[in-house]
Amino acid sequence: MIHSAITGTGSCLPERVVTNQELEEMVDTTDEWIRERTGILQRHIAGEKETTASMGAKAAREALDAAGLAPDDVDMIVLATTTPDRIFPSTACHIQRELGTPVCPAFDVQAVCSGFIYGLDIARRFIATGGGGTVLVIGSEVLSRIVDWSDRSTCVLFGDGAGAVVLQARDEPGILSTHLHADGRYDHLLQVSPEVNGAFIEMKGNEVFRMAVNTLGRIVDETLEANQMDRHEVDWLVPHQANHRIIAATARKLDLPMERVVVTVDQHGNTSAASVPLALNQAVRDGRIQSGDVLMLEAFGGGFTWGSALIRY
Ligand code: UT7
Repeated sequence: MIHSAITGTGSCLPERVVTNQELEEMVDTTDEWIRERTGILQRHIAGEKETTASMGAKAAREALDAAGLAPDDVDMIVLATTTPDRIFPSTACHIQRELGTPVCPAFDVQAVCSGFIYGLDIARRFIATGGGGTVLVIGSEVLSRIVDWSDRSTCVLFGDGAGAVVLQARDEPGILSTHLHADGRYDHLLQVSPEVNGAFIEMKGNEVFRMAVNTLGRIVDETLEANQMDRHEVDWLVPHQANHRIIAATARKLDLPMERVVVTVDQHGNTSAASVPLALNQAVRDGRIQSGDVLMLEAFGGGFTWGSALIRY
């Protein structure tokens, strides 16, 4: 069995920051409502020239640098995104061209907010079966282009950005386990359906919230059980950043104080597939996450899809 480990992380955030106060000018909302209900203070929004591919490539370059590798070393590119630049070719292929990697598999994964965890799972299995020793797993989103900026119930929630990791073959794990799920019976609760609403995000927030809290609680148990680990052995929770209250509920389930939870939702909003790698990169670069720490990564999103990864960093 070939194990794999994260050996580099990177990110890219658009320069333009949109505060809650700016949104107060656009829709019938208040900074107070957004802070209290979501924990969000601001979000980054892509400029005209920024794309899912350009941000993904930047984050990937940073992750390769951190791992001490070059694009030549890459054996596969997996891009998790809900906002591909075109219907086809895949945005992963654009990233491959921008990076100038050798010919290798490159494809997009669509599992909405859980996409990065899905990508990590695919990459670790590719490495485990001898497909190659170095994989880029990227999450990149320009959600601002599928947000209805006149709908206050959704436009305050989302942001743009990209995060990336390099996964490399190792003798010791690394990735201890990954867990993926989907249940299509709930597809209508969180969707972009061109024929229904003109290709904008539509969400039954309340119902999604309840499902997210319950489901993430269950997947935490599943992940610990699979590794015969006690919740107190987890050093860091690196959650999907949709809502501070959902994150806090999962932290309580793990009996983790909030100082042991990586929170970026206040600065980034919900960046869907980019949110977990963006949070991971932040806590690695500011020195909170140290070699040997046990990390619980989890995500929940449209589909519904959900997933987790337990990692010894
Ligand atoms: O990333 C994928 C997964 N996504 C999630 O996990 C998101 C899950 N859902 C949520 O985070 C929360 O449900 C929201 C933040 C979206 C909404 O919070 P909530 O506490 O569930 O509020 P609500 O939808 O029940 O709305 C409460 C009130 C409503 O007014 P009435 O009907 O009580 O008079 C809304 O119309 O808040 C109103 N409202 C707003 N008010 C000011 C909704 N959006 C806004 C707004 N500003 N932006």
